[in-house]
Amino acid sequence: CALPISATTMASASRMLRSLRLRSSSLSKAAAAATVAGLGAFSVNAVASCEPGLDSVVTRLEKVANRLEAIAEGGDYDTSVDAALLAKYSNSSDGYIASCISKICAAKVTNPSNITASLFSIKYFDSLSEAAQKALAMCINSGAQNADSGMGCYAMSPTDYDTYGPFFSRVIAAYHKVPRGSKHVTDWNLSGVEGLPEDGQLDLTKLGLPALSMRVRVGRNLSDFKLPGAMSAADRLRMEQKMCVAFEKLKQKFGGRYHSLTPGHPDHITNDEYNALVKGHKMFKDMSDDSYLADAGIASDWPVGRGCYVSGDGGFIIWVGEEDHLRIMCMNKGTVLNEVFDRLKTALDTVESIEGLKFAHSDTYGYVTSCPTNLGTGMRASVHMKCPNLTADGTDAACKAVCKPLGLSVRGLGGEHTPIGADGTVDISPSARFCISEAQIVTALYTGIKNLVAEEATAKK
Ligand code: ADP
Ligand code: ARG
Repeated sequence: CALPISATTMASASRMLRSLRLRSSSLSKAAAAATVAGLGAFSVNAVASCEPGLDSVVTRLEKVANRLEAIAEGGDYDTSVDAALLAKYSNSSDGYIASCISKICAAKVTNPSNITASLFSIKYFDSLSEAAQKALAMCINSGAQNADSGMGCYAMSPTDYDTYGPFFSRVIAAYHKVPRGSKHVTDWNLSGVEGLPEDGQLDLTKLGLPALSMRVRVGRNLSDFKLPGAMSAADRLRMEQKMCVAFEKLKQKFGGRYHSLTPGHPDHITNDEYNALVKGHKMFKDMSDDSYLADAGIASDWPVGRGCYVSGDGGFIIWVGEEDHLRIMCMNKGTVLNEVFDRLKTALDTVESIEGLKFAHSDTYGYVTSCPTNLGTGMRASVHMKCPNLTADGTDAACKAVCKPLGLSVRGLGGEHTPIGADGTVDISPSARFCISEAQIVTALYTGIKNLVAEEATAKK
Protein backbone atom coordinates (compact mmCIF):
# COMPACT_ATOMS: atom_id res chain seq x y z
CA CYS A 1 0.00 0.00 0.00
CA ALA A 2 1.34 3.41 -0.88
CA LEU A 3 1.28 5.83 2.03
CA PRO A 4 2.19 9.51 1.73
CA ILE A 5 5.37 10.16 3.76
CA SER A 6 5.37 13.67 5.19
CA ALA A 7 8.56 15.51 6.10
CA THR A 8 7.48 15.43 9.76
CA THR A 9 7.02 11.68 9.63
CA MET A 10 10.42 11.21 8.06
CA ALA A 11 11.96 13.49 10.68
CA SER A 12 10.38 11.62 13.60
CA ALA A 13 11.27 8.26 12.08
CA SER A 14 14.89 9.25 11.72
CA ARG A 15 14.89 10.76 15.24
CA MET A 16 13.58 7.49 16.59
CA LEU A 17 16.20 5.46 14.76
CA ARG A 18 18.93 7.79 15.96
CA SER A 19 17.77 7.46 19.54
CA LEU A 20 17.50 3.68 19.20
CA ARG A 21 21.05 3.51 17.86
CA LEU A 22 22.30 5.55 20.79
CA ARG A 23 20.33 3.50 23.29
CA SER A 24 21.35 0.18 21.84
CA SER A 25 25.01 1.23 21.91
CA SER A 26 24.78 1.33 25.70
CA LEU A 27 23.04 -2.05 26.00
CA SER A 28 24.97 -5.26 26.10
CA LYS A 29 25.36 -6.97 22.71
CA ALA A 30 22.75 -9.63 23.54
CA ALA A 31 20.20 -7.10 24.76
CA ALA A 32 20.75 -4.86 21.74
CA ALA A 33 20.34 -7.82 19.38
CA ALA A 34 17.09 -8.84 21.09
CA THR A 35 15.76 -5.29 20.88
CA VAL A 36 16.66 -4.85 17.24
CA ALA A 37 15.33 -8.31 16.29
CA GLY A 38 12.05 -7.63 18.08
CA LEU A 39 11.78 -4.23 16.51
CA GLY A 40 12.41 -5.64 13.04
CA ALA A 41 9.62 -8.20 13.51
CA PHE A 42 7.28 -5.51 14.75
CA SER A 43 8.08 -3.16 11.84
CA VAL A 44 7.20 -5.83 9.31
CA ASN A 45 3.86 -6.44 11.03
CA ALA A 46 3.12 -2.76 11.45
CA VAL A 47 3.74 -1.93 7.82
CA ALA A 48 1.90 -5.04 6.64
CA SER A 49 -1.13 -4.09 8.69
CA CYS A 50 -1.21 -0.81 6.71
CA GLU A 51 -2.09 1.71 9.44
CA PRO A 52 -3.97 4.83 8.29
CA GLY A 53 -0.80 6.90 8.45
CA LEU A 54 2.91 6.44 8.97
CA ASP A 55 2.83 8.87 11.90
CA SER A 56 0.91 6.38 14.00
CA VAL A 57 3.25 3.58 12.92
CA VAL A 58 6.21 5.65 14.10
CA THR A 59 4.50 6.33 17.43
CA ARG A 60 3.75 2.64 17.87
CA LEU A 61 7.30 1.71 16.89
CA GLU A 62 8.61 4.00 19.62
CA LYS A 63 6.34 2.43 22.23
CA VAL A 64 7.30 -1.07 21.18
CA ALA A 65 10.99 -0.13 21.14
CA ASN A 66 10.66 1.05 24.73
CA ARG A 67 8.90 -2.15 25.73
CA LEU A 68 11.39 -4.40 23.96
CA GLU A 69 14.29 -2.47 25.42
CA ALA A 70 12.86 -2.96 28.90
CA ILE A 71 12.42 -6.69 28.29
CA ALA A 72 15.85 -7.05 26.72
CA GLU A 73 17.48 -5.21 29.60
CA GLY A 74 15.49 -7.06 32.22
CA GLY A 75 18.07 -9.76 32.82
CA ASP A 76 20.99 -7.38 32.35
CA TYR A 77 20.13 -4.64 34.74
CA ASP A 78 20.91 -5.91 38.17
CA THR A 79 21.46 -3.40 40.97
CA SER A 80 22.86 -5.92 43.43
CA VAL A 81 26.60 -5.73 44.12
CA ASP A 82 28.69 -8.57 42.75
CA ALA A 83 31.59 -9.07 45.20
CA ALA A 84 34.13 -9.97 42.51
CA LEU A 85 33.27 -6.91 40.43
CA LEU A 86 33.37 -4.67 43.50
CA ALA A 87 36.86 -5.99 44.32
CA LYS A 88 37.93 -5.47 40.68
CA TYR A 89 36.91 -1.80 40.59
CA SER A 90 37.76 -0.93 44.21
CA ASN A 91 41.32 -2.03 43.46
CA SER A 92 41.48 -0.22 40.12
CA SER A 93 44.77 1.57 39.41
CA ASP A 94 42.60 4.56 38.45
CA GLY A 95 42.04 6.19 41.85
CA TYR A 96 38.97 8.12 40.62
CA ILE A 97 37.22 4.91 39.54
CA ALA A 98 38.28 3.05 42.71
CA SER A 99 36.94 5.74 45.02
CA CYS A 100 33.77 6.38 43.01
CA ILE A 101 32.71 2.75 42.56
CA SER A 102 33.53 1.59 46.08
CA LYS A 103 31.68 4.56 47.60
CA ILE A 104 28.59 4.32 45.38
CA CYS A 105 28.26 0.63 46.23
CA ALA A 106 28.68 1.34 49.95
CA ALA A 107 25.98 4.04 49.75
CA LYS A 108 23.48 1.44 48.51
CA VAL A 109 23.43 0.16 52.10
CA THR A 110 24.09 3.31 54.12
CA ASN A 111 21.92 5.71 52.04
CA PRO A 112 19.17 3.86 50.16
CA SER A 113 17.41 7.17 49.41
CA ASN A 114 20.39 8.19 47.25
CA ILE A 115 18.70 7.36 43.91
CA THR A 116 22.00 7.03 42.04
CA ALA A 117 23.40 4.59 44.59
CA SER A 118 20.26 2.51 44.68
CA LEU A 119 20.01 2.27 40.86
CA PHE A 120 23.70 1.90 40.04
CA SER A 121 24.45 -1.49 38.47
CA ILE A 122 28.03 -2.65 38.73
CA LYS A 123 27.27 -5.31 36.10
CA TYR A 124 26.05 -2.68 33.65
CA PHE A 125 29.14 -0.59 34.49
CA ASP A 126 31.33 -3.64 33.82
CA SER A 127 29.70 -4.12 30.39
CA LEU A 128 30.90 -0.67 29.23
CA SER A 129 34.15 0.23 27.51
CA GLU A 130 36.88 1.80 29.65
CA ALA A 131 36.15 5.25 28.21
CA ALA A 132 32.43 4.87 28.88
CA GLN A 133 33.14 3.69 32.43
CA LYS A 134 35.15 6.83 33.08
CA ALA A 135 32.37 8.98 31.62
CA LEU A 136 29.67 7.30 33.72
CA ALA A 137 31.85 7.51 36.84
CA MET A 138 32.11 11.28 36.31
CA CYS A 139 28.29 11.44 36.17
CA ILE A 140 27.83 9.58 39.48
CA ASN A 141 30.83 10.84 41.44
CA SER A 142 28.81 13.51 43.25
CA GLY A 143 26.47 10.90 44.69
CA ALA A 144 29.40 8.62 45.54
CA GLN A 145 31.34 11.29 47.44
CA ASN A 146 28.19 12.76 49.02
CA ALA A 147 26.28 9.72 50.21
CA ASP A 148 23.47 11.93 51.57
CA SER A 149 22.55 13.03 48.01
CA GLY A 150 18.92 12.68 47.04
CA MET A 151 19.60 12.37 43.32
CA GLY A 152 23.37 11.88 43.24
CA CYS A 153 24.28 12.33 39.57
CA TYR A 154 24.77 14.98 36.89
CA ALA A 155 25.14 14.54 33.13
CA MET A 156 28.45 15.69 31.68
CA SER A 157 27.29 15.89 28.07
CA PRO A 158 23.78 16.44 26.65
CA THR A 159 23.96 12.96 25.07
CA ASP A 160 24.74 11.15 28.37
CA TYR A 161 21.04 10.66 29.12
CA ASP A 162 20.74 8.53 25.98
CA THR A 163 24.22 7.01 25.92
CA TYR A 164 23.87 5.69 29.47
CA GLY A 165 20.13 5.14 29.05
CA PRO A 166 19.88 1.95 31.11
CA PHE A 167 21.09 3.92 34.16
CA PHE A 168 19.70 7.40 33.51
CA SER A 169 16.25 6.29 32.33
CA ARG A 170 15.77 4.48 35.65
CA VAL A 171 17.04 7.38 37.73
CA ILE A 172 14.78 9.81 35.86
CA ALA A 173 11.73 7.54 36.19
CA ALA A 174 12.39 7.05 39.91
CA TYR A 175 12.88 10.74 40.72
CA HIS A 176 10.09 12.14 38.56
CA LYS A 177 7.73 9.22 39.28
CA VAL A 178 6.94 8.64 35.61
CA PRO A 179 7.15 5.40 33.63
CA ARG A 180 10.47 4.80 31.93
CA GLY A 181 10.51 6.15 28.38
CA SER A 182 8.01 8.96 29.16
CA LYS A 183 8.40 11.86 26.76
CA HIS A 184 8.43 15.48 27.80
CA VAL A 185 6.39 18.05 25.86
CA THR A 186 7.04 21.80 26.14
CA ASP A 187 3.93 24.00 26.45
CA TRP A 188 3.73 27.55 27.79
CA ASN A 189 0.07 28.03 26.88
CA LEU A 190 -2.00 28.64 30.00
CA SER A 191 -5.43 28.26 28.44
CA GLY A 192 -7.27 25.16 29.58
CA VAL A 193 -4.79 24.30 32.34
CA GLU A 194 -6.54 22.68 35.31
CA GLY A 195 -6.69 25.01 38.30
CA LEU A 196 -6.35 28.20 36.25
CA PRO A 197 -8.89 30.82 37.45
CA GLU A 198 -11.53 31.72 34.86
CA ASP A 199 -9.97 35.09 34.08
CA GLY A 200 -6.60 33.42 33.54
CA GLN A 201 -5.01 35.62 36.21
CA LEU A 202 -2.90 33.95 38.91
CA ASP A 203 -3.64 36.79 41.29
CA LEU A 204 -2.27 36.39 44.82
CA THR A 205 -4.56 39.06 46.26
CA LYS A 206 -7.47 36.66 45.62
CA LEU A 207 -5.76 34.32 48.07
CA GLY A 208 -5.59 37.10 50.66
CA LEU A 209 -1.87 37.67 50.16
CA PRO A 210 0.09 40.90 49.83
CA ALA A 211 2.69 41.51 47.09
CA LEU A 212 5.29 38.74 47.23
CA SER A 213 8.68 38.32 45.66
CA MET A 214 8.01 36.12 42.61
CA ARG A 215 10.61 34.43 40.43
CA VAL A 216 10.51 32.00 37.51
CA ARG A 217 13.74 30.52 36.16
CA VAL A 218 14.67 27.99 33.53
CA GLY A 219 17.93 26.09 33.17
CA ARG A 220 19.35 26.02 29.65
CA ASN A 221 22.55 24.65 28.14
CA LEU A 222 24.21 25.54 24.88
CA SER A 223 24.36 22.58 22.52
CA ASP A 224 27.91 23.37 21.35
CA PHE A 225 29.60 22.98 24.75
CA LYS A 226 30.05 20.06 27.14
CA LEU A 227 27.88 20.36 30.23
CA PRO A 228 29.49 22.30 33.14
CA GLY A 229 30.87 19.24 34.96
CA ALA A 230 33.11 18.36 32.01
CA MET A 231 34.16 21.86 30.94
CA SER A 232 37.76 23.02 31.07
CA ALA A 233 38.66 26.55 32.21
CA ALA A 234 39.19 27.43 28.53
CA ASP A 235 35.68 26.13 27.66
CA ARG A 236 34.20 28.25 30.45
CA LEU A 237 35.96 31.36 29.14
CA ARG A 238 34.86 30.68 25.56
CA MET A 239 31.28 30.25 26.68
CA GLU A 240 31.34 33.48 28.68
CA GLN A 241 32.76 35.29 25.65
CA LYS A 242 30.01 33.87 23.45
CA MET A 243 27.36 35.02 25.92
CA CYS A 244 28.90 38.50 26.13
CA VAL A 245 28.23 38.91 22.40
CA ALA A 246 24.59 37.92 23.06
CA PHE A 247 24.39 40.32 26.04
CA GLU A 248 25.33 43.22 23.75
CA LYS A 249 22.11 42.48 21.83
CA LEU A 250 20.06 42.12 25.02
CA LYS A 251 21.43 45.42 26.35
CA GLN A 252 20.06 47.20 23.27
CA LYS A 253 16.59 45.91 24.08
CA PHE A 254 16.53 45.61 27.89
CA GLY A 255 19.39 47.86 29.05
CA GLY A 256 21.46 46.78 32.03
CA ARG A 257 24.90 45.19 32.08
CA TYR A 258 26.91 42.03 32.48
CA HIS A 259 28.76 41.41 35.77
CA SER A 260 31.73 39.06 35.44
CA LEU A 261 33.64 37.18 38.14
CA THR A 262 36.43 36.27 35.71
CA PRO A 263 39.64 37.99 36.81
CA GLY A 264 40.70 40.55 34.21
CA HIS A 265 37.36 40.55 32.36
CA PRO A 266 36.30 44.04 31.14
CA ASP A 267 33.02 43.67 33.11
CA HIS A 268 34.73 42.30 36.23
CA ILE A 269 33.07 43.25 39.54
CA THR A 270 34.57 43.59 43.01
CA ASN A 271 33.91 41.20 45.87
CA ASP A 272 31.62 43.73 47.53
CA GLU A 273 29.61 44.15 44.32
CA TYR A 274 29.36 40.36 44.00
CA ASN A 275 28.16 39.99 47.61
CA ALA A 276 25.54 42.70 47.10
CA LEU A 277 24.22 40.87 44.01
CA VAL A 278 24.01 37.59 45.98
CA LYS A 279 22.23 39.36 48.84
CA GLY A 280 19.79 40.89 46.36
CA HIS A 281 19.02 37.35 45.01
CA LYS A 282 20.36 38.33 41.58
CA MET A 283 23.58 36.29 41.56
CA PHE A 284 24.41 32.74 42.61
CA LYS A 285 26.39 31.72 45.65
CA ASP A 286 30.06 30.68 45.69
CA MET A 287 29.87 27.28 44.00
CA SER A 288 33.13 26.04 45.45
CA ASP A 289 31.36 25.83 48.84
CA ASP A 290 28.90 23.28 47.46
CA SER A 291 30.36 19.77 47.74
CA TYR A 292 27.68 18.26 45.44
CA LEU A 293 28.72 20.63 42.65
CA ALA A 294 32.44 20.42 43.50
CA ASP A 295 32.53 16.60 43.31
CA ALA A 296 30.65 16.72 40.01
CA GLY A 297 33.32 19.02 38.55
CA ILE A 298 30.61 21.65 38.03
CA ALA A 299 32.23 24.09 40.48
CA SER A 300 35.73 23.61 38.99
CA ASP A 301 37.77 26.68 38.02
CA TRP A 302 35.53 28.93 40.14
CA PRO A 303 35.10 31.87 39.52
CA VAL A 304 36.39 31.66 35.95
CA GLY A 305 33.71 32.10 33.29
CA ARG A 306 31.02 32.92 35.85
CA GLY A 307 28.81 35.99 35.88
CA CYS A 308 25.33 37.37 35.39
CA TYR A 309 23.52 39.73 33.06
CA VAL A 310 20.95 41.96 34.81
CA SER A 311 18.48 44.05 32.77
CA GLY A 312 18.09 47.79 33.35
CA ASP A 313 15.07 47.31 35.63
CA GLY A 314 16.65 44.37 37.46
CA GLY A 315 13.77 42.04 36.59
CA PHE A 316 15.36 39.91 33.88
CA ILE A 317 18.53 38.04 34.76
CA ILE A 318 20.78 35.46 33.10
CA TRP A 319 23.32 33.53 35.16
CA VAL A 320 26.36 32.24 33.31
CA GLY A 321 28.31 29.17 34.44
CA GLU A 322 26.36 27.85 37.41
CA GLU A 323 24.93 24.30 37.49
CA ASP A 324 23.69 24.82 33.94
CA HIS A 325 25.42 26.97 31.32
CA LEU A 326 22.57 29.45 31.71
CA ARG A 327 19.86 30.06 34.24
CA ILE A 328 17.43 32.52 32.71
CA MET A 329 14.93 34.15 35.05
CA CYS A 330 12.44 36.93 35.68
CA MET A 331 11.85 38.28 39.14
CA ASN A 332 9.55 40.91 40.60
CA LYS A 333 7.72 41.86 43.78
CA GLY A 334 4.06 41.80 42.84
CA THR A 335 0.72 40.08 43.07
CA VAL A 336 0.12 38.47 39.66
CA LEU A 337 2.26 35.44 38.81
CA ASN A 338 1.47 35.78 35.08
CA GLU A 339 3.68 38.90 35.06
CA VAL A 340 6.94 37.04 35.67
CA PHE A 341 5.85 33.97 33.70
CA ASP A 342 4.87 35.91 30.57
CA ARG A 343 7.90 38.16 30.79
CA LEU A 344 10.19 35.14 30.97
CA LYS A 345 8.61 33.59 27.88
CA THR A 346 9.09 36.81 25.89
CA ALA A 347 12.66 37.24 27.12
CA LEU A 348 13.47 33.59 26.34
CA ASP A 349 12.16 33.98 22.80
CA THR A 350 14.50 36.94 22.36
CA VAL A 351 17.47 34.99 23.73
CA GLU A 352 16.70 32.01 21.49
CA SER A 353 16.44 34.25 18.43
CA ILE A 354 20.06 35.43 18.87
CA GLU A 355 22.15 33.92 16.12
CA GLY A 356 24.45 31.15 17.28
CA LEU A 357 22.62 30.37 20.54
CA LYS A 358 21.14 26.89 20.35
CA PHE A 359 19.85 25.22 23.50
CA ALA A 360 20.51 21.51 24.10
CA HIS A 361 17.20 19.67 23.71
CA SER A 362 16.18 16.03 23.62
CA ASP A 363 13.11 14.56 21.96
CA THR A 364 12.56 12.46 25.05
CA TYR A 365 13.78 14.65 27.90
CA GLY A 366 12.93 18.14 26.66
CA TYR A 367 15.49 20.79 27.69
CA VAL A 368 18.64 19.03 28.79
CA THR A 369 20.04 20.09 32.16
CA SER A 370 23.07 18.96 34.18
CA CYS A 371 20.95 17.54 36.97
CA PRO A 372 18.23 15.03 36.08
CA THR A 373 15.96 16.77 38.62
CA ASN A 374 15.69 19.77 36.30
CA LEU A 375 15.14 17.94 33.00
CA GLY A 376 12.18 18.80 30.81
CA THR A 377 11.14 22.34 31.59
CA GLY A 378 14.24 23.27 33.62
CA MET A 379 11.70 25.50 35.35
CA ARG A 380 11.42 26.50 38.98
CA ALA A 381 8.64 28.97 39.77
CA SER A 382 8.82 30.31 43.31
CA VAL A 383 7.56 32.87 45.76
CA HIS A 384 9.01 34.08 49.03
CA MET A 385 6.17 33.67 51.47
CA LYS A 386 5.81 34.13 55.23
CA CYS A 387 4.68 30.99 57.08
CA PRO A 388 5.23 32.01 60.73
CA ASN A 389 2.92 29.34 62.18
CA LEU A 390 4.41 26.46 60.24
CA THR A 391 7.92 27.66 61.13
CA ALA A 392 7.17 28.61 64.75
CA ASP A 393 9.95 26.27 65.97
CA GLY A 394 12.50 28.17 63.88
CA THR A 395 12.89 25.34 61.36
CA ASP A 396 11.30 24.41 58.05
CA ALA A 397 10.45 20.86 59.25
CA ALA A 398 6.68 21.32 59.71
CA CYS A 399 6.41 23.42 56.57
CA LYS A 400 8.21 20.72 54.54
CA ALA A 401 5.95 18.02 55.98
CA VAL A 402 2.86 19.96 54.90
CA CYS A 403 4.30 20.97 51.51
CA LYS A 404 5.54 17.56 50.35
CA PRO A 405 2.08 16.04 49.76
CA LEU A 406 1.06 19.32 48.10
CA GLY A 407 3.83 18.78 45.51
CA LEU A 408 5.76 21.78 46.81
CA SER A 409 9.42 22.17 47.74
CA VAL A 410 10.56 24.41 50.58
CA ARG A 411 13.88 26.21 50.38
CA GLY A 412 15.55 28.83 52.53
CA LEU A 413 15.67 32.56 51.97
CA GLY A 414 18.98 32.34 50.11
CA GLY A 415 17.87 29.39 47.95
CA GLU A 416 18.69 25.68 48.10
CA HIS A 417 20.54 24.48 51.22
CA THR A 418 20.08 27.81 53.08
CA PRO A 419 18.14 28.59 56.29
CA ILE A 420 14.64 30.09 56.38
CA GLY A 421 14.16 33.78 57.11
CA ALA A 422 14.00 34.96 60.74
CA ASP A 423 10.37 36.04 60.19
CA GLY A 424 9.39 32.60 58.86
CA THR A 425 9.81 33.49 55.19
CA VAL A 426 10.35 30.43 53.00
CA ASP A 427 10.89 29.86 49.30
CA ILE A 428 8.00 27.79 47.92
CA SER A 429 8.00 26.16 44.47
CA PRO A 430 6.31 23.20 42.75
CA SER A 431 8.70 20.24 42.81
CA ALA A 432 7.81 18.87 39.35
CA ARG A 433 9.88 19.85 36.30
CA PHE A 434 9.56 16.87 33.93
CA CYS A 435 6.52 15.60 32.02
CA ILE A 436 4.60 18.67 33.14
CA SER A 437 4.12 21.77 31.02
CA GLU A 438 5.53 25.19 31.88
CA ALA A 439 1.96 26.50 32.12
CA GLN A 440 1.06 23.70 34.55
CA ILE A 441 4.04 24.56 36.77
CA VAL A 442 3.07 28.19 37.28
CA THR A 443 -0.56 27.17 37.84
CA ALA A 444 0.61 24.52 40.33
CA LEU A 445 2.47 27.26 42.19
CA TYR A 446 -0.77 29.26 42.49
CA THR A 447 -2.80 26.23 43.62
CA GLY A 448 -0.01 25.20 45.98
CA ILE A 449 0.12 28.66 47.59
CA LYS A 450 -3.67 28.54 48.04
CA ASN A 451 -3.38 25.18 49.84
CA LEU A 452 -0.45 26.37 51.91
CA VAL A 453 -2.34 29.48 53.03
CA ALA A 454 -5.05 27.14 54.38
CA GLU A 455 -2.46 24.93 56.12
CA GLU A 456 -0.76 27.96 57.65
CA ALA A 457 -4.13 29.15 59.03
CA THR A 458 -4.84 25.68 60.48
CA ALA A 459 -1.39 25.57 62.09
CA LYS A 460 -2.29 28.69 64.08
CA LYS A 461 -5.06 26.93 65.98
P1 ADP B 1 17.57 27.98 41.62
O1 ADP B 1 16.24 28.60 41.87
O2 ADP B 1 18.20 28.54 40.40
O3 ADP B 1 17.50 26.50 41.66
P2 ADP B 1 18.44 28.67 44.36
O4 ADP B 1 17.37 27.90 45.02
O5 ADP B 1 19.81 28.50 44.89
O6 ADP B 1 18.58 28.36 42.79
O7 ADP B 1 18.05 30.19 44.41
C1 ADP B 1 18.87 31.13 43.77
C2 ADP B 1 18.59 32.53 44.26
O8 ADP B 1 17.28 32.92 43.84
C3 ADP B 1 18.64 32.67 45.76
O9 ADP B 1 19.21 33.91 46.10
C4 ADP B 1 17.18 32.69 46.12
O10 ADP B 1 16.90 33.35 47.34
C5 ADP B 1 16.61 33.45 44.96
N1 ADP B 1 15.16 33.28 44.82
C6 ADP B 1 14.49 32.16 44.55
N2 ADP B 1 13.18 32.39 44.51
C7 ADP B 1 13.02 33.70 44.77
C8 ADP B 1 11.90 34.56 44.87
N3 ADP B 1 10.66 34.13 44.68
N4 ADP B 1 12.12 35.85 45.15
C9 ADP B 1 13.39 36.32 45.32
N5 ADP B 1 14.48 35.57 45.24
C10 ADP B 1 14.31 34.29 44.96
N1 ARG C 1 23.06 16.76 43.85
C1 ARG C 1 22.22 17.08 44.95
C2 ARG C 1 21.52 15.82 45.44
O1 ARG C 1 21.55 14.82 44.74
C3 ARG C 1 21.20 18.15 44.59
C4 ARG C 1 20.14 17.72 43.61
C5 ARG C 1 19.02 18.71 43.36
N2 ARG C 1 19.45 20.07 43.34
C6 ARG C 1 20.05 20.65 42.31
N3 ARG C 1 20.48 21.88 42.48
N4 ARG C 1 20.19 20.08 41.15
O2 ARG C 1 20.94 15.82 46.49
